[in-house]
Amino acid sequence: MRSDIACYHWTRYTQLRGTSAPCRIRSSARSVAGMTTTLTLNNGVTLPALGLGVFQSSPEETAAAVETALRGGYRHIDTAAAYGNERQVGEGLRASGVPREDVVIETKIWATDFGYDETLHAFEKGSRKLGLEQIDILILHQQAWNLFDRTIGAYKALETLLADGRVRAIGVSNFDERALNRLFDETEVVPALNQVELHPYHSQPALQAFHRDHGILTQAWSPIGGITFYPGPWGDERRSVLDDPALVEIAEAHGRSVAQIALAWHLQQGRQVIPKSTNPGRIAENFDVFDIALTDAELATIVGLDTGSPSGPAPARDFDEKSLFPIPED
Ligand code: A2P
Repeated sequence: MRSDIACYHWTRYTQLRGTSAPCRIRSSARSVAGMTTTLTLNNGVTLPALGLGVFQSSPEETAAAVETALRGGYRHIDTAAAYGNERQVGEGLRASGVPREDVVIETKIWATDFGYDETLHAFEKGSRKLGLEQIDILILHQQAWNLFDRTIGAYKALETLLADGRVRAIGVSNFDERALNRLFDETEVVPALNQVELHPYHSQPALQAFHRDHGILTQAWSPIGGITFYPGPWGDERRSVLDDPALVEIAEAHGRSVAQIALAWHLQQGRQVIPKSTNPGRIAENFDVFDIALTDAELATIVGLDTGSPSGPAPARDFDEKSLFPIPED
């Protein structure tokens, strides 16, 4: 299967570039070399280890990206109300022809909809936009620490939706240990996953250990370090993960791209990843990683690149009480 998909994208890629080099990718069964391709959440629901992220995918591009990914073998799409592209995720899913029940759709509730009733209503909005009666994984997008009573109300709504079978698993995003501990104290269901910034420059070992101790899956956003090269309000004096000399050396040793090495690093360490791309060649490239086997020394080298600080927004930043949008950081 791998060679068919890869050759399809290779051919399209070379056509787009005006060349016509033949595809030389060997036909072989996918070797998974000890790498997990499916993960089981703490409530028994299974989730592919690698899905497509659509953060910053414009609505115009999203449906095509989702369709391409699903046709290429992806079976998990991660979106969010705040991304403004849930409708197009649903369109891409239907256009792909892949049976609904074979695909895990994950979305997020933004803080403007935190609070018990508000979150129940937000579920209805999201489900309508996606065109789905049931959402597979529904998570809170932010911890909104300074408004945490509303966050608790929102999480209790997720628990209700789970009990009613409207969602199959619930979780959180951008929660730190303090927020998770408060959630444990005030709610019943341990989150199935916590989606956090995690890439070679920010690998969060302490939070990962905390997740392991509590049966929470670590889901990495910006897994190839996109956040280190996105233009944005967080400053542009930053190194890009994709240009890192140590990663380039490992990539050259394996004859693969740095993005593929970063993804293999996550998968070998048991994390779930959602690389974002709208480019068909890169969508295929990011899925072609299950045969990469990094050595212990290479894994350790990548762990050693951790800077200890996020490249994106701080998880515990405050939210404006009226607008419920994040207060910009200094
Ligand atoms: P594009 O959509 O044009 O492919 P992350 O998920 O780590 O935040 O990374 C997403 C960013 O990385 C996007 O800018 C995406 O752009 C780019 N990207 C995705 N896959 C690759 C890849 N294999 N090589 C280089 N850049 C990539």
